[in-house]
Amino acid sequence: MCLTLPSKVISLNEDSVEIFDGRRQKTVLLGSLEALKVGDWVLSSDDFLINKISEAEAKEITDLIWSNYEVPDINEIDQRAREIMAASETREITREEVEYLLSVKDEKTLIALYSEANLRRKRFVKDHVCVHGIIEFSSYCANNCLYCGLRRDNDCREKYRMEPEEIIEETVKAVEERGYKIIVLQSGDDAFYTKEKLVYLIGEIKKRTRVFLYLSIGDRTVEEYRVFKEAGANGVLYRFESSNQQLYEAMHPGKKLADRLELLKAMKQLGYVIATGSIIGLPGQEISDLANDIFLVKELGAFMPSFGPFVASHGTPLENKDSGDSEMVLKVMAIMRFIMPASRIPLTTAYETIRGEAGRKEAFLAGANSLMFNLTPDKYRKNYSIYDNKFYDAERKIEKWSLFKGETSYQMLEEEVGFKI
Ligand code: 5AD
Repeated sequence: MCLTLPSKVISLNEDSVEIFDGRRQKTVLLGSLEALKVGDWVLSSDDFLINKISEAEAKEITDLIWSNYEVPDINEIDQRAREIMAASETREITREEVEYLLSVKDEKTLIALYSEANLRRKRFVKDHVCVHGIIEFSSYCANNCLYCGLRRDNDCREKYRMEPEEIIEETVKAVEERGYKIIVLQSGDDAFYTKEKLVYLIGEIKKRTRVFLYLSIGDRTVEEYRVFKEAGANGVLYRFESSNQQLYEAMHPGKKLADRLELLKAMKQLGYVIATGSIIGLPGQEISDLANDIFLVKELGAFMPSFGPFVASHGTPLENKDSGDSEMVLKVMAIMRFIMPASRIPLTTAYETIRGEAGRKEAFLAGANSLMFNLTPDKYRKNYSIYDNKFYDAERKIEKWSLFKGETSYQMLEEEVGFKI
């Protein structure tokens, strides 16, 4: 589902209305909305009205997805950064230039960087924010990643598994009752869910509802991913976590970066839509590593570059380490927007965790254009603790404002990914 810009009703006809969103005027069908009057605020899809909203809500939404920073005076912006940003419109910027932008610290130049990313977002992707739902169905994990609260050796929290039927029910409910069109099914690396169980689960979900399904289930064989794709899975959310081999292998005991990259390439070949990226602020990570991460996302043909800060997790070897730097996360997202201007860049839960409510707007103003809502049933959610104090938006206002009328949201998504769902 997507959140679009609010518009004001400027005139009423029999079964259509003229609306204005501050930039464009258009005629849309009334749909099932009645009792509108001139001056009312509405949300609309391309062709019809979705929702009537209050003026206060309209302001809140506009503020969240359409406002901008006050752009500093040109003389206050670092000249080289300015040149690099300008160059990024006509050619791919170099690794060295990316590192330069990642090193910017001065406030005015940072604002210019974020504003430019925000402008690019407005130019290359529609004026809307896409909402993904995520269901974390198992907290068991066979791996022992140093940063992750789900690691095998961490017994601080009760482990849980949702039964396949329950996962199917929750997914179908999210689509049919709440209007989600994209669901991420996430778990630790958990062999309890055999190939057969997952094929059944994916197949049942796709039989029962129309949904774009991302799998975020970790390491499986290429053959398994092949059959999951055949069963109906559409995308994978599988981060490479760090493009620095040494850092990767230090963080993931017994694992090889080359294997992960090979699997990502195989996933792409299988036709999966790829969401991947890294964790920002892992101990020992350098700016040059982040520049490489940015280029690797592009090289892997990702549709959704996914970057979030490291957040310490209780019961892990890194439990006392500082969180990743939020400014660095914004810089990476902004630069990603220059390098892949039409991509879908999510504001991650980890970012919301370190920045709270304010984080959402910060990220949208720096090039992000989507977010993830946690739909894990309450009784399990507290035990899916990848890191501490994980952000949870119980109110989910954006969900209420978003497009619930099916077809248009599906069409927009299909246009973006290039196939039927
Ligand atoms: N901090 C931030 N992100 C984390 N992840 C796992 N543990 C942490 C942590 N402590 C991320 C990984 C994984 C995704 C599901 O969550 O990048 O791919």
